[in-house]
Amino acid sequence: MGISNSIRFSTQQIHAGVEPDPVTGAILTPIYQSTTYVQESIDNYLGKGYSYSRSGNPTVRALENKLTILEGGVECRAFSTGMAATTATMMALLSAGDHAIVSDVAYGGTYRLATMILPRFGVEFSFVDTSNPDAVREAVRDNTRLIFTETPANPTLKLTDIAAISKIARERSIPHAVDNTFLTPYYQRPLEMGADLSIHSTTKYFDGHNATVGGAVISATQELDQAVKFVQNTTGSIMSPQVAFLTMQGCKTLSVRMDAQCANAMTIARFLETHAKVESVCYPGLESFNQHQLAKDQATGFGAMIWFEVKGGTSAGKKLMDSLELWSLAENLGSVESLVTHPVTMTHADVEVSERRRVGITDGLVRLSVGLEAAEDLIEDLEQGLAKV
Ligand SMILES: Cc1ncc(COP(=O)(O)O)c(C=O)c1O
Repeated sequence: MGISNSIRFSTQQIHAGVEPDPVTGAILTPIYQSTTYVQESIDNYLGKGYSYSRSGNPTVRALENKLTILEGGVECRAFSTGMAATTATMMALLSAGDHAIVSDVAYGGTYRLATMILPRFGVEFSFVDTSNPDAVREAVRDNTRLIFTETPANPTLKLTDIAAISKIARERSIPHAVDNTFLTPYYQRPLEMGADLSIHSTTKYFDGHNATVGGAVISATQELDQAVKFVQNTTGSIMSPQVAFLTMQGCKTLSVRMDAQCANAMTIARFLETHAKVESVCYPGLESFNQHQLAKDQATGFGAMIWFEVKGGTSAGKKLMDSLELWSLAENLGSVESLVTHPVTMTHADVEVSERRRVGITDGLVRLSVGLEAAEDLIEDLEQGLAKV
């Protein structure tokens, strides 16, 4: 990897894990578009480290090495999507008869996996308010084999105290996996707070340009990594080399993009907070955010996700979303393009209505993923949209 771990994040995001191509000197790791790798002899099988691209690929490996260093883990595996990363983690750690705890607010796909697929294989899940360590403590059973938290959670931004939950997990020898997609290791470092696995949809901030879908699992131990890698290889969910190449380019500007997007988000949250047509606004950087102190304590940035409700409820919210011109109505988040999402009809449509209401995913909730455009332009667009509701 050729670069010391003590070097700053903004330097690591560019250089870590990458060497000039040994054959040509190309500064960017090439896209190794090859299914298989010719072996020198039976006795020297895997001499160059690769056999078949479902099991490993040099371009993907360069990204994995970079993410290992950025997250401060021992190993990383890159996946075809964020959901593939979550699925492999759960399959690696859970068997029939086991029980797992999942944050009661989490990405809709995670909820779908834990309610509609893995229970068919004999795994039981409890959806727990992981912002409350006592609730987690009470939910642990003799057969609990995984605590899976998402913080900040999609879409309500509820926070989980990573150190507190990791402590509970460690006392009972249960692995704690954290979905760190919303903040990335630039702002939040779960493994340093005691978590065992950090999971990402690289589709979001690591890529940052709406160009790919991908995922990653960074493990704190070789043992966990080997379990994840076994599932990845067996089920065939590795990232493709083109996606790894593009994601690597995205990584190089991660801190610059996140700082600028976070600053935009703060400006927009403050604008919404004072707007007469806005009922409520939620952003971890606002003093009014109910976990503002925890947001400051466990992360170095507040992220670029906001949600708010317009006065007049769902119909007013829909009217606003239809009226926006610069904000695209779309499902992704974390990109340089600003996006607006209606979780109830888009990202969280499969979450049961009663469960959605219980955890605060209201019908009128409008989610913003703040991009890199000029904050003034984004605010002007929101202003003209709000004027129409
Ligand atoms: C927090 C979080 N985790 C995981 C995922 C799943 O990632 P992907 O869409 O890359 O499968 C998403 C997608 O929106 C997400 O928001």
